[in-house]
Amino acid sequence: MFLTQTHSATLHATLRSPYTSFRSGHITRIMRKMARLAIFPNFAPLRSRKTSFIPDVNELKSLIRDDTKLIVINFPHNPTGATLQEKELKEIIDIARQKNIVVFSDEMYRFLEHDQANRTSSACDLYDSAISLFGMSKSFALAGLRIGWLTTKNSDLLKSFATYKDYTTICSSAPSEVLAIMALRAKDRILKRNLDLIENNLKVLDEFFAKHTKFFDWHKPKAGPIGFPTLKTNIDISDFCLDLVEKKGAMLLPSKVYDFKGNYFRICFARKNMQEPLEKLEEYLKENY
Ligand SMILES: Cc1ncc(COP(=O)(O)O)c(C=O)c1O
Repeated sequence: MFLTQTHSATLHATLRSPYTSFRSGHITRIMRKMARLAIFPNFAPLRSRKTSFIPDVNELKSLIRDDTKLIVINFPHNPTGATLQEKELKEIIDIARQKNIVVFSDEMYRFLEHDQANRTSSACDLYDSAISLFGMSKSFALAGLRIGWLTTKNSDLLKSFATYKDYTTICSSAPSEVLAIMALRAKDRILKRNLDLIENNLKVLDEFFAKHTKFFDWHKPKAGPIGFPTLKTNIDISDFCLDLVEKKGAMLLPSKVYDFKGNYFRICFARKNMQEPLEKLEEYLKENY
């Protein structure tokens, strides 16, 4: 296991190679930036299906080249809340294993599956050359600690992470590590608190979207406090989000931010005051449409 605050930097330092990636909100943005800087010139994002947001394994196979070194996946997924089934994860791992490709699996939203039956194995437990990323920012709602970690059975990779970390920040903040340990010891309580919040907010959102089917398609997420519904009108989603935040102070993120085509937007439901922003959105719809 390797502690890090800088996941993207670690990726950069250790895996400067052509690779194929599953679409991940966070990692894809980093990868695209790196592609532009010619650090990962052969970056090949994989399309996911329009409502389940699960990528097609056959498409992944078709993107693999002889020099592919890395597959990046992110499940549970930000911003769609999609989860893989164990069988789907194993299919991806098998593709990687056959060609000796490293798998980087961003599992930051692990433990926030709305139904625990949707929790898969960690990639690092299924394959020696898989790296799993987890941290305190999401499931534990402790982003301020800036503590996360990479787990892999591949000792060469682990060594290269340590070398890079040593070169940049040497060590993590010790007080943050102590707080992270305290939170891990209280894991069940903290996760229950966060899952209860998500469950309550999901009920509110289900009602909201059921009431506004004229405007929205609600692709109910399966994990985490984030969803990716569609705006059904022919107004461009970026214009809609900008106008909404200017007029009502309620912020939704348009799909463009995630390099995702279509009139999708990201809605976050991680706070106790869920009704308030939805009232603003409702007011906005009434006043403008
Ligand atoms: C899927 C995913 N992975 C990783 C991160 C990084 O989290 P942090 O830098 O807060 O630890 C984020 C943050 O938005 C994320 O959404």
